[in-house]
Amino acid sequence: MPLQRLDISQLRNLSKVQFKPSPHVNLISGANGSGKTSILEAIHLLSLGRSFRSHKHKTYIQKETSECVIFALIEPVQTTGLGLSSPQPIGLKRQLDGVLDARLSGQKIQSLVELTQALPIQLINPDAFRLLEGTPKIRRQFLDWGVFHHSPGFINAWRGWQKALKQRNSLLRRGKISDNLLLAFDQELIRLGSEVNQYRHDYLESLIPVFKQVLSSLNATLEVSLQLFQGWDAQKTLAQSLDASRSRDIESGYSNTGPQRADLRVKTPTGDALDALSRGQQKLVVSALKIAQGKLLIESGRSLVFLVDDLPAELDKEHRDKLCQLLEALNSQIFITSVGPELMDYSWSETIDVRHFEMKAGELSHYPSDVLQES
Ligand SMILES: Nc1ncnc2c1ncn2[C@@H]1O[C@H](COP(=O)(O)OP(=O)(O)OP(=O)(O)O)[C@@H](O)[C@H]1O
Ligand SMILES: [Mg+2]
Repeated sequence: MPLQRLDISQLRNLSKVQFKPSPHVNLISGANGSGKTSILEAIHLLSLGRSFRSHKHKTYIQKETSECVIFALIEPVQTTGLGLSSPQPIGLKRQLDGVLDARLSGQKIQSLVELTQALPIQLINPDAFRLLEGTPKIRRQFLDWGVFHHSPGFINAWRGWQKALKQRNSLLRRGKISDNLLLAFDQELIRLGSEVNQYRHDYLESLIPVFKQVLSSLNATLEVSLQLFQGWDAQKTLAQSLDASRSRDIESGYSNTGPQRADLRVKTPTGDALDALSRGQQKLVVSALKIAQGKLLIESGRSLVFLVDDLPAELDKEHRDKLCQLLEALNSQIFITSVGPELMDYSWSETIDVRHFEMKAGELSHYPSDVLQES
């Protein structure tokens, strides 16, 4: 499923960048502000329809232009017997007025979920700590990305539950609703919310052993556990929890309990990972979480693209090498950026296609090989 070709137009300082990445390792170096992160941002946009740097599309569309366009060819999955199908085109255009036009194989997509299905990515960047220090919503999104790829039934249950929750909250906001009327509305919410919760529990059970294994390869001394806070008292069913909170919900005008409050708790034996670990250790934990998610997906026969922005940020040479070693073993397509090529000097296996690129003021070129030999 790797990207065979990537064309980016009018994204930040990338006026026009076209290149053929390696199906394995792509190393991009260049000075601050040269446009390295913007390459990864383009791939992220293609996968999720949104940037990881800003929710405002106006900030990433190139100044004094009216739209940015990203296009890629996705290599088909190898099939036995009937030969190969042709590469799948995937394209996205975002206009200054906000209009988004995204296409897969020439067809306009109905939902951004189709992009994520076609091009799953995992991003490890200097902002990765947000997974630990941000709001529960960020960790729920992380968890649900994994559940979505792991369990085909999840997306329908999740959509139905979201709809039921929105209806309930709008009834609550309007007020003047009796316990009994609310109880009638709650039946669908309980059914779908319990399903969503079960999917999350099942997924986490699969993720935990993979996470532990990945983390110990990165750092054998770190002891970190993952727990799902499901959004209500673990001793109660969702129906019991809603029963207990119905009067409070009517009074407060919103739903106080349920899967919308779920959180993934990341703990060390002495407390929350965020309080107990150094910055570098936190980055290792977040990297292990993301690699573990990717590994689970790969083990289920899918593939994905890893984006590692600013590899050296917070990581010493030993841990940079361990991270690269883990990524190498996944046999996925990887894009890694760093200000200098010497900071990405891991010895990749000779069987791997490693391509070095240099970014200079928005222009991407193959890194001159003589410079690499000197460094
Ligand atoms: N909307 C925009 N239009 C044009 N240029 C922009 C826009 N937004 C940002 N830029 C510029 O584009 C460049 C984007 O750089 P980017 O963040 O990709 O660099 P980088 O190589 O990752 O740098 P660093 O090493 O500092 O992380 C910067 O020079 C920035 O000033
Ligand atoms: Mg950058």
